[in-house]
Amino acid sequence: FFKGCNEDIKRMKKADGLVLDVHDHNYLPRIAPHYLKWRDQYGEPFLYWFGPKPRICIFDYELARLILSNKSGHFLKIDTQPTVLALLGKGLVFVEGIDWVRHRRVINPAFAMDKIKIMAKTMVTCAQNMVKELEDQASKNKNGETQVELDKQFQKLTTDIISHTAFGSSYKLGIEAFHAQKELQEIAVETLLSVQIPGSNYLPTASNRRKWKLERKLRDTLVQIIQSRSGPEGSLYGNDLLGLMLEACIPTEQGGKQKQLSLSMDEIIHECKTFFFAGYETTSLLLTWTVFLLSVYPEWQERLRKELLRECGKEKPSGDNLSKLKEMTRVLLETLRLYGPAVFTQRKTMTDMAVGEIKIPQGFGIIIPSAIMHRDKKFWGEDADEFNSLRFQNGVTKAAKVPHALLAFSIGPRSCIGQNFVMMEAKSVMAVLLQKFSFTLSPDYVHAPVDLLTLQPKFGLPVVLKLLA
Ligand code: HEM
Repeated sequence: FFKGCNEDIKRMKKADGLVLDVHDHNYLPRIAPHYLKWRDQYGEPFLYWFGPKPRICIFDYELARLILSNKSGHFLKIDTQPTVLALLGKGLVFVEGIDWVRHRRVINPAFAMDKIKIMAKTMVTCAQNMVKELEDQASKNKNGETQVELDKQFQKLTTDIISHTAFGSSYKLGIEAFHAQKELQEIAVETLLSVQIPGSNYLPTASNRRKWKLERKLRDTLVQIIQSRSGPEGSLYGNDLLGLMLEACIPTEQGGKQKQLSLSMDEIIHECKTFFFAGYETTSLLLTWTVFLLSVYPEWQERLRKELLRECGKEKPSGDNLSKLKEMTRVLLETLRLYGPAVFTQRKTMTDMAVGEIKIPQGFGIIIPSAIMHRDKKFWGEDADEFNSLRFQNGVTKAAKVPHALLAFSIGPRSCIGQNFVMMEAKSVMAVLLQKFSFTLSPDYVHAPVDLLTLQPKFGLPVVLKLLA
């Protein structure tokens, strides 16, 4: 009973040995064989047991819209394993109700477009540093080529970017915090499909002790960064994400009344963890899959390079230049459709709920498998399994039969707060890379996407970079 369908899921996923051709973007049998099998067997929606907990898996866009846009507060984020919570922080992703409203109001201004355009300068500088290193490497070879594990380079780069944009001058400490968080993530992945025996988190096992030590290290480092901000005048907050968040906590006058939207030290620490997790891994994966697709479709790579040349020549791109890259935006959106880093969205019901035709009892988990829905031919057309960024040429809301078909950043009040940030970051990096190099997949590349909390290339992304003339 405790195991529910978990053993079945493990078994079906183990049989995922299948390696795909690089032109084959239908990796669903690798990452979600259980959902595909049960949908065929039982129709949709269907119910299954995750450990002792019931979950409903829905595939219907209208039901997904009703659930994700619901503002009654009756669809909550799903219960999260303590390891995952320690990793992500109980920040914006997990808080609920009036706490969520308060957190979102404090954090929103930090992600305003004018602020993001300022951060673009930092993003481009970080990308140029990475590209310079690769350039040095390539220019040592007569043919101007170098083979690199680009997924690893992107992980380093997006850590660097989020450390700089979140923590400004304290970015070195930020990177230390990141390393502790990264190790915590490894523990979280290890325990993901194991059934948690109640109380087992408090036992002083070797793994728990390692986890507690890392959590302490992460917290101490973040406290150090935050405390370094409140200078003698108390106004040295800075233009980075942390500074803008602290700024929003300053009391303001509204209608003659003092209003304070505030977060406690603990809450700010949790938000910092959330930015880190949300900000580096997902973005590095978006970059990884974008380079993968542009390697498979070199004509698109060339098209983006031409657009870049038109908009900013060989100069360092600015936030304004980057905002004008329409072809690039479409390619990123198509990458998010086919290889979106967040594969599923989850909710649970706080009370018995009727959604469309179905009734969902209290406490049931709801799975919205965006990766599967993004390939629904009824909505995306017969070419749903193929790469075709032109489907976005009239904007994201006109790309499919319904305006909310792209679920990569989710929709509704809990949709991704960082989506403009991540699009700017991805454009900054791709622009700098495309200005210097052409790229192809290395013969060592093996196409085997896996779902490890996020969608990742199982064997990394080895790529051959060639310096442009
Ligand atoms: C390609 C990159 C990204 C993807 C695919 C992505 C995807 C998502 C998705 C699907 C959600 C909704 C989750 C749910 O409803 O359960 C979400 C929420 C969120 N994301 Fe992102 N994200 C990305 C980048 C970022 C970045 C760069 C940041 C911050 C620096 C960020 C911060 C957040 C936060 C704080 C939330 C919670 C919002 C709320 O509940 O109010 N994300 N993201």
